[in-house]
Amino acid sequence: MKVYLDNAATTALDPEVFEAMRPYMLDLFGNPSSTHSHGRVVRAGIEKARKTIAELLNTTPGEIFFTSGGTEADNAIITCNVDTYNIKHIITSKIEHHAVLHTVEHLRDIGKVKLSFVNLDRDGCIDYDHLEELLKTNDKSLVSLMHANNEIGNITDIGKVGEMCKEYNAIFHSDTVQTMGHYVHDLSKLKIDGITGAGHKFHGPKGEGFMYVSKKSRFHPFILGGAQERNMRGGTENVYGIIGVAKALEIAYRDMADHAKYIQGLKDRMIHNLKERIGDIHFNGQSGIADKSLYTVLNCCLPESDDNDMLLFNLDINGISASGGSACSSGASKGSHVLEELDRNSKRGAVRFSFSKYNTPEEIDYAAEKLAEFYKVEV
Ligand SMILES: Cc1ncc(COP(=O)(O)O)c(C=O)c1O
Repeated sequence: MKVYLDNAATTALDPEVFEAMRPYMLDLFGNPSSTHSHGRVVRAGIEKARKTIAELLNTTPGEIFFTSGGTEADNAIITCNVDTYNIKHIITSKIEHHAVLHTVEHLRDIGKVKLSFVNLDRDGCIDYDHLEELLKTNDKSLVSLMHANNEIGNITDIGKVGEMCKEYNAIFHSDTVQTMGHYVHDLSKLKIDGITGAGHKFHGPKGEGFMYVSKKSRFHPFILGGAQERNMRGGTENVYGIIGVAKALEIAYRDMADHAKYIQGLKDRMIHNLKERIGDIHFNGQSGIADKSLYTVLNCCLPESDDNDMLLFNLDINGISASGGSACSSGASKGSHVLEELDRNSKRGAVRFSFSKYNTPEEIDYAAEKLAEFYKVEV
């Protein structure tokens, strides 16, 4: 049996998305910047995709810009805001994705900004009072706090952070890569300057995503060389990627309520299964608490064992794909920077299961059974 439980790393392309992309891979090949009919029809496709995304997020098409994915979008919003608005102070957390963490650390290392990390509690939750303190005691800041953590699923109250940033005149960026397509983002209500999306996290194509940049905080771009994306990102567009991302988001919103319920059911089943089969188990961060964590992510804190290094390998042998941390660090020998920040016994193994609409209850039972076998628990 082959079981894919690494959907926070990437998801399978939805066949409906592929069908929407197909014409742009074959017949509709014109360059969208060309003014002739071959180009114009493709330009129209891109603008329709932009309008679709803007409508779903309750914003205007002029505030949506296509990028190569989440990493580029996070980099652009942070770096370009710092340059354009001469920001000298960034507030972030130690459990951000490396797309954010490495960017802000680089800006600190080259002397452009001072960096402050907001305090986290033992489960990786943000201390909002400390955030306010940091905002109060520093000059105009840029705050970058992710909406949901890709490893432990913790959800940040971005509504609250947005209000605080507004009060203290700070720029607010949130990496929404893990929530995009899984939760509703109503940009008419959020006080936020930039958010990001990556198509491959919600059954769209890899290598294509977008950023929302509020018209109040437009910045000078960092990819120069063409007037594409209204001068915000040079380079010929990844046309079929753009069409695919918009279609994937449309489907995600269309089916969101049903899929959220179904996927939460899978996660609950896994929690129940694991608690029954492996008594000595709990869940890292807030990932075991419904409503406080992504319904797509469960990060298990497993029993102590000398064999824990072999866990992912063992699951893999049994056809189960899961992760020890984020996709970027799975397979690499370096431990997770997120788990490191939690108050946990590092001798206990950790595995992240992440679910999608394509998983089945049978797959959940099979994975739980194999995990219990690894810990030699009677099944
Ligand atoms: C929270 C978060 N931010 C950013 C990224 C990077 O997105 P992309 O792979 O599209 O560059 C990821 C992907 O793992 C992610 O989980």
